[in-house]
Amino acid sequence: MSQLKVFVTRNIPDAGVEMVRQVAEVEVWQDRLPPPYSVLLEKVKGKDGLLCLLTDQIDQPLIEAAGSSLKVISQMAVGYDNIDITTATAKGIPVGHTPGVLTDATADLTWALLMAAARRVVEADKFTRSHQWQTWEPTLLLGADLSGATLGIIGCGRIGQAVARRAAGFGMRILYYNRKRLEPGLERSLGVEYQDFNQLLQASDFVTLHISLSAETYHLFGDHQFQLMKPNAILINTARGSIIDSDALYRALTGGKIAAAALDVTEPEPIPRDSPLLTLENIIITPHIGSASRQTRDKMATMAAANLIAGLEGEKLPYCVNPEVYR
Ligand code: GLV
Repeated sequence: MSQLKVFVTRNIPDAGVEMVRQVAEVEVWQDRLPPPYSVLLEKVKGKDGLLCLLTDQIDQPLIEAAGSSLKVISQMAVGYDNIDITTATAKGIPVGHTPGVLTDATADLTWALLMAAARRVVEADKFTRSHQWQTWEPTLLLGADLSGATLGIIGCGRIGQAVARRAAGFGMRILYYNRKRLEPGLERSLGVEYQDFNQLLQASDFVTLHISLSAETYHLFGDHQFQLMKPNAILINTARGSIIDSDALYRALTGGKIAAAALDVTEPEPIPRDSPLLTLENIIITPHIGSASRQTRDKMATMAAANLIAGLEGEKLPYCVNPEVYR
């Protein structure tokens, strides 16, 4: 039997690549930046497996370019909006992802951003470094209290629930909106109350997004939604950038519709150098590091490798986004 061939679209933690090397001939794209689409089209040709990242556009032409040898696509991420699942499914190719292992890391970063925005930590650090700290001042860099405030969680799946669990110590009222209401027992144990989307926006001091990007959630936040929010509200996004219309966010932040935002994801990524959002003081922007803890990235790499190997060997993927391929 000829050797199985795999393309890995970036240097991922060693543990993952080593696993794949046990079963296949592996080519790893070594650059810091992702392979350009035209290069990816060439690289996938004749491969049996593709281990990719959220920065790779895995669309119909790309899946077709791979040809009939392609047995599995394994993404090292929980989100997979960069992959044409319909085409993969139509061709019987299972697609793997890495849910669960990055839940806590992403919930942690959500809280880091929420608290940094509430207490203006980034501004305060810049203030100190620019030698503006002259004395203790009664009204210097005043921020927002968490205690007694209302937290609105949009999307109460794994990550949304982990965010809710962390809120328990802060004395907040916690509202959530989800496509499907949670079981009453789970609502009670998380201490969350279900609200419809608009009511949640109207009632929340902090709004945090934990939904995936789809045709329904694209630009879910626009002028109308910012109009509904409280002028003191802080918006946190660790999900996907395109859930928020960036131009509308700029208008909301400069027009006093909301107080501040903290984004780990932008539209597009990386955020363009000339984005007007980068000129504002009342926004924090981090470079999509929600899952970026050492242990989490190791777990994501080994999980992506396990999905890939299962697909190469004709086994069911442990974490498959299109299980229809097995019917
Ligand atoms: C990160 O954004 C992921 O989807 O894993």
